[in-house]
Amino acid sequence: MWIPRDNSILSVPLQEEEGAKSAALLLPVNPPLAIDPSWVLVEAGFEPQREREIESILTVANGYVGTRGALAERTSLSSPAVFLAGVFDANEAPGGTLDLVKLPDWTHLRVLVEGTPLSLETGSIVEHRRILDLQHGVLCRSWRHRDQEGRVTGLIFLRVASLHDRHLLLQSVTITPENYSGMISIESVMEGTQAGIPWSSNVEGDGAMIVGRTRRGTTIAMATHGKLRHENVQESSGSSPIEGLTDRRTWQARRGEPARFDRSVVVYSSRETGDPPAAAGEHMRRASGAGLDAHIVRHAEAWEARWRAGGVEVAGDEMAQRALRFAVYHLNSAVNPKDEYASIGARALTGSAYKGHVFWDTEIYLLPFYTFTDPSAARTLLLYRFHTLQAARDKARRLGYQGALYAWESADTGEDVTPDTVIAPDGRAVQVLTGVQEHHISADIAYAVWQYWQATADEAFFLEAGADMLIETARFWATRGRLEPDGRYHIRTVIGPDEYHESVDDNAYTNVMAQWNLERAADTVDWLRSRHPEVWPIISERLQITPDEPASWRRTAERMTTGFDRETNLFEQFTGFFDLEDVDLAAYPARPVPLDVILGRDRTQKSKVVKQADVVALSALLWERFPSAVHEANFRYYEPRTAHGSSLSPALHALVSARLGEADLAARYFHDAAAIDLSNHMGNAAGGVHIATLGGLWQAVVFGMGGVRLRDDGLVIHPNLPSNWDRLSFPLQWRGRSVTVAINREPKQATVELRTGDPMTIQLGQGSIQVMTSNHRYVIQGERSGWGAWKESKR
Ligand code: BGC
Repeated sequence: MWIPRDNSILSVPLQEEEGAKSAALLLPVNPPLAIDPSWVLVEAGFEPQREREIESILTVANGYVGTRGALAERTSLSSPAVFLAGVFDANEAPGGTLDLVKLPDWTHLRVLVEGTPLSLETGSIVEHRRILDLQHGVLCRSWRHRDQEGRVTGLIFLRVASLHDRHLLLQSVTITPENYSGMISIESVMEGTQAGIPWSSNVEGDGAMIVGRTRRGTTIAMATHGKLRHENVQESSGSSPIEGLTDRRTWQARRGEPARFDRSVVVYSSRETGDPPAAAGEHMRRASGAGLDAHIVRHAEAWEARWRAGGVEVAGDEMAQRALRFAVYHLNSAVNPKDEYASIGARALTGSAYKGHVFWDTEIYLLPFYTFTDPSAARTLLLYRFHTLQAARDKARRLGYQGALYAWESADTGEDVTPDTVIAPDGRAVQVLTGVQEHHISADIAYAVWQYWQATADEAFFLEAGADMLIETARFWATRGRLEPDGRYHIRTVIGPDEYHESVDDNAYTNVMAQWNLERAADTVDWLRSRHPEVWPIISERLQITPDEPASWRRTAERMTTGFDRETNLFEQFTGFFDLEDVDLAAYPARPVPLDVILGRDRTQKSKVVKQADVVALSALLWERFPSAVHEANFRYYEPRTAHGSSLSPALHALVSARLGEADLAARYFHDAAAIDLSNHMGNAAGGVHIATLGGLWQAVVFGMGGVRLRDDGLVIHPNLPSNWDRLSFPLQWRGRSVTVAINREPKQATVELRTGDPMTIQLGQGSIQVMTSNHRYVIQGERSGWGAWKESKR
């Protein structure tokens, strides 16, 4: 975890543009102002071997374009990358499928003093700090460097991916010769050598355009515009069509006098417009009129709105507070509510791991955050699945089933892009079976659709898209399950969430989620028939639903094998799981590598070692379906057997343990999950942030510690605060209403406000139900056992 060494932040001399509000609000000016350290991530010094994980964490992104936090001048270990959501290209390497395309690195800059480039790797560092201002979405860097001649140069960098104007990227560097006068040059580079795509470029005055086309035919245009402010500027520009663009500006710098270079970049692709270069050029002309500071102020205002809608506050645990801010920063950076043809990859737009592919991570780990804080973003992500429904139908058909089987790994078209093989840590090529066997994703998508619908009551979405997805996924299960001589439906040869065990029969998670999916599809038909009798014939015709189908879904659900044992309250994770070897995980406390690598693949498969929350995930998702004794028994059984070999695991364990009332254990799991990126605890943060974990952190706190659940007419809260959390508060959206929840530990108290919207119900724990009206505050005090009665007052 990074902790700021002190409370001061950079001093950035932003000059006032006409019409712009003071930029000092985001970037405190001289003297350095103290700001709340829980709003910033600070990386001080320079440790080259950590560079790549730092780049992931310091990504600036806006759901449309993401830029890793590589140092502008780069080092030998830098791994810069710029990604555009939804733009994939063929990977022609053996086993390759589709990769998220890398764009030219628009942040690349060189600063030369008397012709010699400044580098962290030569001369000496007087001071070096990178600061990610989570509140305003600004990456700052302050660097004071002494070169081999003893000249000290001060540099302040700043970088933004505008949240107000998603096509716009901004960079600024202020350069001050501290103890000398001399020639300084700045070279801004846009290299077009990435991902084997040919890029062409041309320069015009202070601006330039670079255009590339992927093998799959997507055109990308990046317009750039630079401006240097200094008294003694001699400008010169140069470009080479092969190597991209290099724009060099040189000036005679006087000791102590700063110069500032601003660069704006506008990106368009043929996914949004027929003529990306024209759109980028036009957009740049409009944008360059306003000046960088004005753009940053609008960007910061867009961030403020996101924090109002989704910021979680924790008092008493500073690390947890910062981890939550970090999570919410990346969750908001990952999504573009304007693009329903792209979704969020396993590392969002922050790194190349998993090649930008979309997994169940999006629906199960990320969607709840958007559904409850930014419903239009959730809708967009679900529409991506709707637009890929045909590909899911095709996949089901290919494997011999009906309905829709979604791709385990999805890119732009929804076709399955799971690789066939991967190289294992021991160098052997291992066959990947998830693409053909990990089927629970269809039920996961159905789950997200249903949860979105319950939380938002977005009927238009449900009638146009949601119902189709619920029904087509249920149809898949109706044929995927087979009735066997024991009179039960079985789902054989699958992989559940626990990927250490392949080709298993009747994985409890898969089967119970399938059962749930079948029931909800039948409910959907009942609801359509009774509430929308005019729409039902259209949907029924569109999906060719036969009269007996809905009843057959219920029958299949009733007879689905679940692996549940009434005696013990346990679900058997899959048939035969209880007969496998028990390995004592406590014997492997600090593991340098994942447990399956230590034990070997064969032994792991024959053991009860579980990769990640599997039955525990079922508890998290279908809490209402089972009594707490069932959750308790399964958590007690599976938790000690879970190796957390996937980053997805600890956050769900935090959620479930909080719901079971074990709030301190929940806090431990919460911190384990937070450390995956912030302390690189799995050793793979260089590949990008683990966005599902970050969504899991939000869920652990809101659904676990806050205990939020849905009821038909409102929300339930059931607080479970860890012993060092004094207070927890968060906003939520529910069916067009804005609600805020605040929970206090000592004195034990909960406060709920309905800020806007029609009356709704709030329930505390198992009892205390209250109808809330807008602009009223409802407070409830804790009593020795349980809670008192709600007290109402005007806000
Ligand atoms: C996990 C999957 C996950 C994928 C992408 C795998 O290691 O087992 O559940 O979907 O990573 O995050």
